[in-house]
Amino acid sequence: MKELAIKIKNCKKCDLWETRNLPTIYSGNLKSKIMFIGEAPGRNEDETGMPFCGRAGQILDELLEYVNLKREDVFITNILKCRPPSNRDPKEEEINECKVYLEEQIKILKPKIICPLGRFSSRYMLKKNLEMGDMHGKIFKINNIFIIPMYHPAAVIYDNKKREILKKDFKKLIKIYDSN
Ligand code: URA
Ligand code: SF4
Repeated sequence: MKELAIKIKNCKKCDLWETRNLPTIYSGNLKSKIMFIGEAPGRNEDETGMPFCGRAGQILDELLEYVNLKREDVFITNILKCRPPSNRDPKEEEINECKVYLEEQIKILKPKIICPLGRFSSRYMLKKNLEMGDMHGKIFKINNIFIIPMYHPAAVIYDNKKREILKKDFKKLIKIYDSN
């Protein structure tokens, strides 16, 4: 993982390196059974290099706490390691360039469960162009890994109803976690 971090820090494979400050590589536990995959760094993450350290991160912490998990118990990364300007959506070509790092992280971590957060990482993991309403909280198994897509925690900021949906989906996640 250290070698990979060096590669990411030096990466210029897509244009985002020009405007980013720090890439987000990962945070958490290298022995975790669970991997969360967010979208891309926001302003706070770009300043610190730490995934989910801003408002969306606080909501993620609340959800983890709700099922008695701590940040130190899980592994967190993003599908794009560098911040898109003004937090715009990731572009397909950016994901195509950056995905090798995520794939390498999956190989190194060997998680039992992957929770993609939001539509970009969920679509990527399932290789399907579905809407979040059709994917969230469902349990898929691909290459012997449980894939459980979730709404992005930031969705709660715009729509408080998503909080209850996320809580329900986190309950499903912890059941799979406890029985594997
Ligand atoms: N949103 C994300 O998808 N990832 C982060 O790291 C922060 C906010
Ligand atoms: Fe490289 Fe990914 Fe950053 Fe693009 S987003 S420069 S591919 S690390």
